[in-house]
Amino acid sequence: MAEELTLTPDLSRAERYQELMPQIKGIMTGEQNLIANLANVAAILHEGLGMLWTGFYLKDGEDELVLGPFQGPLACTRIRLGKGVCGTAASTQTTQVVPNVHEFPGHIACSALSQSEIVVPLIAGGTTRLVLDIDSQYLEDFSTVDQEFLEEVMIMVRDHHDWE
Ligand code: SME
Repeated sequence: MAEELTLTPDLSRAERYQELMPQIKGIMTGEQNLIANLANVAAILHEGLGMLWTGFYLKDGEDELVLGPFQGPLACTRIRLGKGVCGTAASTQTTQVVPNVHEFPGHIACSALSQSEIVVPLIAGGTTRLVLDIDSQYLEDFSTVDQEFLEEVMIMVRDHHDWE
């Protein structure tokens, strides 16, 4: 059953995440299809945070990421591990918070409007399975608040699914 997203006006970023977290958990309840859940997580975060681009890249083969469910303008289809912000997060298995994408060596510009970016990897069984990528049209739009909540979102997604 589809539900409307609850969005109280004028919340701080942390308050917004507090409001979104139960809605993310709720939408996955009873659904085990990864793509369907990623699609709704992207929609909730995108609408809730009002970002430029919100979506996922999934590990494909040994050394590549392929575009998954997303919201926003069209994006590059494939990214090699170690390349760009997404490939760096995937290969180092660490969250990348990029205050100014123009200063990140090898940044892949999917949209000229993107100014800052955060990429959070989902690791299961020691392997990077996918990354969450959010782009903002504002410089320095992401902080440790975003990192903490988005890492929690990825743990929620990881623990909800089976990984072989
Ligand atoms: N900027 C990313 C590429 C993906 S788009 O932002 C949607 C990167 O450098 O990996």
